[in-house]
Amino acid sequence: MFARLPDDARPAVALTFDGERVDARAGDSVAAALLAAGHAANRLTPATGRARGPWCLMGACHDCLVTVDGVPNVQGCTVAVAEGMRVTTQRGARAIDLERTDAAFAIDDSTVQALDATRDPTTIVDVAVIGAGPAGLAAATVAAECGLAVALFDEQAGPGGQVHRGITRSPLARADVLGAEYWAGGAHVRAFERSGARYVPGSSVWALTRNDDATLSLATSYASSKAAASIVTARAVIVATGALERPMPVPGWTLPGAMTVGAAQILLKTSGIASSQGTVIAGAGPLVWLYAWQCLNAGGSIDAILEATPKGRLAQAIRHLPAFVASHYLAKGVAMMREVRARVRVVDHVERVEAFGESRVEGVRFAAGGRVETLACDTLLLHQGVIPHLNLPLAAGCDIAWNDTQLCFEPVVDAWGGSSLPGVWIAGDGAGIAGADAAAPRGALAALAAANALGRFDANDRDRKSRRHRVALTRATRGRAFLDALYRPSDAFRLPEGDTLVCRCEEVSASRVGDAARGGAVGPNQVKALTRCGMGPCQGRYCAPSVTALIARHCGSTPNEVGTYRQRFPVRPVPLGELASLPGSDAADEAVVRLGERH
Ligand code: FES
Repeated sequence: MFARLPDDARPAVALTFDGERVDARAGDSVAAALLAAGHAANRLTPATGRARGPWCLMGACHDCLVTVDGVPNVQGCTVAVAEGMRVTTQRGARAIDLERTDAAFAIDDSTVQALDATRDPTTIVDVAVIGAGPAGLAAATVAAECGLAVALFDEQAGPGGQVHRGITRSPLARADVLGAEYWAGGAHVRAFERSGARYVPGSSVWALTRNDDATLSLATSYASSKAAASIVTARAVIVATGALERPMPVPGWTLPGAMTVGAAQILLKTSGIASSQGTVIAGAGPLVWLYAWQCLNAGGSIDAILEATPKGRLAQAIRHLPAFVASHYLAKGVAMMREVRARVRVVDHVERVEAFGESRVEGVRFAAGGRVETLACDTLLLHQGVIPHLNLPLAAGCDIAWNDTQLCFEPVVDAWGGSSLPGVWIAGDGAGIAGADAAAPRGALAALAAANALGRFDANDRDRKSRRHRVALTRATRGRAFLDALYRPSDAFRLPEGDTLVCRCEEVSASRVGDAARGGAVGPNQVKALTRCGMGPCQGRYCAPSVTALIARHCGSTPNEVGTYRQRFPVRPVPLGELASLPGSDAADEAVVRLGERH
């Protein structure tokens, strides 16, 4: 379960869920309010009518869909609560009322002003930055400091990305709960605010295409608007859309109450809601320990951590130990793990995990050291590292390649983050996982390269200005190889079997994917056509890695040979009303036609 921290001073807000009163706090998302009130489930799936609850809480999975004041298909994690709001269980996902696409979004003045400023289809910026985590903030700041006109598009309501989520509006009264590294992100925000770059919160870029005149068009929607979208033209684009948590498709991972560790951390950062009794964490990676430490710091509790690093991994990672010992990771990580182990039961080298329950998580079964054990719990938090969020670069046509150490695809980029698509740079974890501390220097390097390409200064100046960022990047990535080797996910948690669902959205099991592969499907797109796997609203974000891995195993090929889903625009579901709202200028019409021609 989750519980609110007692020192939350935000005003109270009352709403209803399926007719039952829910007490929330101003600024909560609908999903956060429901979870804090004990409602783990918020929708029934279209295919089987099974109950589902939030999974990622970052706007990617669409498992938190609810009906708000009669409007279906509202993502509960992206919409703020409002007094008197009527939230009901979403039944199915395809019942769209075309007359009522204007969901009850909260509108604030600054967002409306930002929207008005960008609604003009003739808007042209020098650099469009997508994503306001440390990479995007640094990229926008440096580009603006180079004298370029910069617009930063951010899906969230405030800057920070996932790692510094809620940094300008966190309700946590005690700064020590999240640790100094979280609050250090404030420096990125302050530098950005001083830079003169324009911030467009609540904006979602769902298409990116290169024009004949070498500019780029971005199709963008705005959470604050009632079904409006616009096309912005940029001379350069820096994609800083960060990472997603790697799916961990164990049996029962779709039950309400099973969520990512990152989702639980978002609840803590943005709503002051911490895990409480009945919570088990399963998986591996630095985020497991960081969240557990933050949760305990906040006064929350965790029943057990089922640590899934395989036996023998330390020996494989040991050759990278010297650099790790010299990094900041060591002291920080060891102290954190020691504190958590002193207060929480930790089971090491867990080999198998399975959630069970009728309509929500009621317990977890696990195997470790030759024994099987069952723990009663109502919340299971899963994590096995992060992977680059690739949907937008893929749909735009950027090349990708398989990283066999991190077991994921990543974009092909040069030393500045330059992608294979001219005019597009990729920065931060979206360009390959290197961690939060590396994100800001990577963003700065991309901005300097863009400024050079746009003629602000020559290559010598670019190189001179980049030196301190390269030093920071080297320092930030020291020790990373050790973590990559240590926390490389085991096959047991990447290759689901039997009835275990691979595709959360379309409820496609591992055995169906295997049947398709045995039947001749040699790639994810064929599996998609045969099974609907990957056709759901998350657009493959949470099944693509598993599908690639399963096909590679069945066909005896490499992930690079198998590839991943071909991505198409829009890279997130867009209501028809938004498409219809695109401005009718010649430039916009041409841009829309070009988008269509790509497919
Ligand atoms: S998990 Fe969403 S489309 Fe497969």
